[in-house]
Amino acid sequence: MSGQIFWNGTALPYRPGETVATALTRAGVLRFGVAPGGQARGIFCGIGQCQGCLVQVGARLTEACLLPCRDGLMVSDAGGPQHG
Ligand code: FES
Repeated sequence: MSGQIFWNGTALPYRPGETVATALTRAGVLRFGVAPGGQARGIFCGIGQCQGCLVQVGARLTEACLLPCRDGLMVSDAGGPQHG
């Protein structure tokens, strides 16, 4: 079943079976946040090994490339100045 996730409060559609990383990429979101060193976060390995795609879901950080979309899922960028 398709539906929508929320990226930094903006509704984005997803297709059945998509991960959050795929849905974000398809929506044109390539920058998932900023790493402590100032580099942009985004998809690199796509298999849960590099943590380049970390996003925030509630109080935890998780790999967007491993996170299945589900309707109403609230996701936000991880790291960067706005997160201290
Ligand atoms: S892209 Fe490497 S962990 Fe997700």
